[in-house]
Amino acid sequence: MENTSSHVIAVDGLAATGKGTLARRLADHLDFAYLDTGLLYRAVGIGVLRAGGDPSDPVAAAKAAQALNPDVLVNLAQDPDLRTEVGGDAASKVGAVPEVRQALLKFQQDFAAHPPLGKKGAVLDGRDIGTVIAPHAKVKIYVEASPQVRANRRFLELRVRGENVTEASVLAELQARDARDTQRATVPTKPADDAVILDTSDMNADEAFEAALGIVEGKIKH
Ligand code: DC
Repeated sequence: MENTSSHVIAVDGLAATGKGTLARRLADHLDFAYLDTGLLYRAVGIGVLRAGGDPSDPVAAAKAAQALNPDVLVNLAQDPDLRTEVGGDAASKVGAVPEVRQALLKFQQDFAAHPPLGKKGAVLDGRDIGTVIAPHAKVKIYVEASPQVRANRRFLELRVRGENVTEASVLAELQARDARDTQRATVPTKPADDAVILDTSDMNADEAFEAALGIVEGKIKH
């Protein structure tokens, strides 16, 4: 169960909204622990693919999720395969499976309640932090940006990495992922009722960070 003695900041939003960069910067600035929960789902999706399975298969997805233990989960940031588009697509598919979400719940709630290294708070980014993982979080930010802006940002990132994509193909994939993440029966992505919506369509990364910090400072007194 969540322990409210830790300051928890929930940063939710769809793919390529910039929520990960924002959440990490907030955590660094506040000296809080940071958890990218998308990596957990990516690890399950890639786990299914490595076992030769289909991430849309609920049985294979549940098995891969149940095979992950906390020792593996804390080291996910080291695995480069997880950050790929294939990893994101597989993660979105396994994320629709209730047994997968259930298997990952305790690790996330423990992280929020007892941040590692004695930190006094935690920033978690994902899709359901404010609604399911930490419904009592002191701060909830739901990051939005228009599909065109998100596709353009993601396209530029992928081009730097040398991936051979067009902006139109990136937009089409984002829209498919948005549809799956917002329309799934289990925990569809949406803002918590008490979340502050932060639309970063017309902001650069520094402006988005300043806006998010303003929201946090309004809610947490150090
Ligand atoms: O945040 P991300 O792009 O790394 O997430 C990849 C996919 O994982 C996303 O499309 C849906 C799923 N996911 C989820 O269902 N719940 C979360 N808390 C985080 C990610």
